[in-house]
Amino acid sequence: MWRLKLLTEEEIVSLIEKYGNKKSSLIRIMQEIQKKAGYLPKEDLSVLSQQINIPLSKIYGIATFYHQFRLKPFGKHTIQVCFGTACHVKGGDEIWDFLREKLRLIGSEDTTNDLLFTVQKARCFGACSMAPVMKVDNDIYGNMTKEKLEEILKKYS
Ligand code: FES
Repeated sequence: MWRLKLLTEEEIVSLIEKYGNKKSSLIRIMQEIQKKAGYLPKEDLSVLSQQINIPLSKIYGIATFYHQFRLKPFGKHTIQVCFGTACHVKGGDEIWDFLREKLRLIGSEDTTNDLLFTVQKARCFGACSMAPVMKVDNDIYGNMTKEKLEEILKKYS
């Protein structure tokens, strides 16, 4: 499985020392944790809760209220599907729907349970002549079809 970075208890304590042991410091500390880990690991939030003496439920309340916070890590590979005009006209939406279906993503989920893929909608990649276009990490794939998508997913699995 894709390796995740958790902060050590000492790192969290040093953030509390840096920003202060009060409610108003919480968002700043959570931003720092996310900056280091890429998201807010539940283990880190538990340590933060104990160290700063604020209930975990309150911390989760903040984490879910602000869109800037992410409670799930990004997948190993990021797949972006272009939603620019040219790609939209050439069926980018169908590629998006098929991708989500293949990865079994439901509702607002954007990352597979095995943490292999995160999917995102994107703006024009500047490759409109190859619409519909998709990007996996730094690789661009044009003239996308459902068949081609299946092959690409296998390549990164
Ligand atoms: S609109 Fe999709 S690459 Fe330009």
